[in-house]
Amino acid sequence: VDELTPLASQVEAILHCAADTRFDRPLESARAANVVLTRQMLDFARRCPRLRVFLHVSTVYVAGRTAGRIPETLLPLPKQFSNTYQQSKYEAELAVAEAMRDIPAAIARISSIIGDSRTGRVRQFNYVHQLLRLFPRNALTVAPWEPDAPVDLVPADWVASHLARLLAGEVEPRRVYHLCCGDAASMTVRDMVALTRRLFDSHPSARTRPPVRLPKLVTLAEFESFCEQMRAQGSHLTTELLRALGLFLPHLGIYQLFENQRTSLMPPPAAKTYETVVRWCLDTDWGRCSQASSSSGNPSM
Ligand SMILES: NC(=O)c1ccc[n+]([C@@H]2O[C@H](COP(=O)([O-])OP(=O)(O)OC[C@H]3O[C@@H](n4cnc5c(N)ncnc54)[C@H](OP(=O)(O)O)[C@@H]3O)[C@@H](O)[C@H]2O)c1
Repeated sequence: VDELTPLASQVEAILHCAADTRFDRPLESARAANVVLTRQMLDFARRCPRLRVFLHVSTVYVAGRTAGRIPETLLPLPKQFSNTYQQSKYEAELAVAEAMRDIPAAIARISSIIGDSRTGRVRQFNYVHQLLRLFPRNALTVAPWEPDAPVDLVPADWVASHLARLLAGEVEPRRVYHLCCGDAASMTVRDMVALTRRLFDSHPSARTRPPVRLPKLVTLAEFESFCEQMRAQGSHLTTELLRALGLFLPHLGIYQLFENQRTSLMPPPAAKTYETVVRWCLDTDWGRCSQASSSSGNPSM
């Protein structure tokens, strides 16, 4: 951050994206990247006399496991987080909220970015894609679900356009913006499960692998008691898999609706983005090969 000092007199807008986005870091290292770095950037912002906006990029999952409608406001401390990423991003928002008193700061919370809206191409694989990889291996035997819970997935290109619009002048200081599908464009967990199965079963690669079996779908409480039993039995592999899944899978078992009244640019429906991305993953074997086994037959899809 010190290297930025010579720029301070010229800077008008700061988009603070940098973060450690891994879910499994010890809390102190997640804080070192996400909270300390945010504080350093805010200190730099205070030295920028021409600053018009400091836009802090956050995640809707600072809501942790809080159920219900999640508003575009600063949030009370959730009772539980699913991982240290969520917690450290929540704490980073507290630092930004404090700085709103003396600099024109605002927060842009994004839901889950899964790939490009037109091609489905994934530049950065995250938990959604990891879960998709497990699916055809039938490695997941039990999963939590709340059938009517919204699943909020957005394309990377739409997020980039939205952030650009905010930075170009739409943003109002001291506000929180949700860059997400919200009520109108999310899909339900039930729809996502059905769509996933249909996409896997109808893809040409289905001929070379066993049919996809759905995991047993249970409530979050049942899933957590299953994880507890597995731990007690001491099955290392299953416990390790469940520990990793437990960092994000619980959200499929919690009704969380992220509001997005402030968005001026609606995202494509989550189901459409999801379908395009799953097809790309299947066509390219998760980016490992060209689209030889394309379901569309169009290599430039
Ligand atoms: N992807 C999503 O689905 C999603 C959803 C909601 C919110 N977000 C937010 O969007 C932002 C960008 O996420 P992303 O998915 O693009 O993550 P990413 O690909 O992991 O990129 C994070 C960036 O932060 C940099 N960085 C990490 N630790 C740093 C440090 N200590 N000092 C300086 N730079 C550091 C990384 O630099 P190196 O490459 O050099 O390590 C990398 O360029 C984050 O704030 C994240 O919380 C992402």
